[in-house]
Amino acid sequence: MIEIHNIHKSFNGKVVLDGISGVFQTGKTNLLLGASGTGKSVLLKCIVGLIKPDLGSVTFDGTYFTNNKLDIRQEIRRKIGMLFQGSALFDSMNVEENVEFPLMMLTDMSRQERMDRVNFCLQRVGLEGTNKKMPAELSGGMKKRVGIARAIAPNCTYLFCDEPNSGLDPLTALKIDRLIKEITEEYNITTIVVTHDMNSVIEIGDNIMFLYEGKKLWEGTSNNILDSDVPELNEFIFANRLMRDAKKVEEEEERQKTP
Ligand SMILES: Nc1ncnc2c1ncn2[C@@H]1O[C@H](COP(=O)(O)OP(=O)(O)OP(=O)(O)O)[C@@H](O)[C@H]1O
Ligand SMILES: [Mg+2]
Repeated sequence: MIEIHNIHKSFNGKVVLDGISGVFQTGKTNLLLGASGTGKSVLLKCIVGLIKPDLGSVTFDGTYFTNNKLDIRQEIRRKIGMLFQGSALFDSMNVEENVEFPLMMLTDMSRQERMDRVNFCLQRVGLEGTNKKMPAELSGGMKKRVGIARAIAPNCTYLFCDEPNSGLDPLTALKIDRLIKEITEEYNITTIVVTHDMNSVIEIGDNIMFLYEGKKLWEGTSNNILDSDVPELNEFIFANRLMRDAKKVEEEEERQKTP
């Protein structure tokens, strides 16, 4: 479980995060949802320690992270897997080398152990046999899968994914979302996914935090997100016609249930 408490961050006097608190549950895909520029990526970077918040704290399974001693922060960092926006694979390395990289950096596994783990992770994301392919030979969806394999290779306890399905067609996006959710449940990982995609919300949103102008305006699940009375959230959700139609169907079902 990851807890954040009263996170504030400004850049050059411009407030980006304005006191955000919340809990991200273990074994769940926790979503950070919001429009472009609302501070989702900045919050994720504050949580992993890439950006230092001006105020507030982050706790990983009870261990205080922000401002703690370097060795304790490093110990936590070792347990974090990160899927960057755009996958961020190393172009000059093949698939196998990309997935092996964090194992070389973070573990003292032998070459054979590393290869076993690489092959296991590639198989887990449905990419067995692609070991020698270069990133340039892969489709967008395959690159995301390699990114996920690389993130989970060192047995991560925490997984962070920034816009994992941006730039993918809806079906491939769905497969990536489901893969992240499956892996989260299978290995009991605390996963945080940054997204502005309503399909992801409905498909994998166990816990959802809605950010608006640096504040958390709503939190809930995919089951109750269509019923909120937060105007900013509704404006965000129902900008999408499909969502408006889904809401109508839900209301109609409710009407039919009440005699
Ligand atoms: N290093 C930085 N220096 C100055 N301003 C920054 C920095 N990083 C982010 N910002 C600003 O913080 C605000 C929030 O950015 P952030 O990247 O968190 O948005 P986001 O919600 O992730 O948007 P998107 O959905 O487009 O990725 C933006 O106005 C951005 O310009
Ligand atoms: Mg972002």
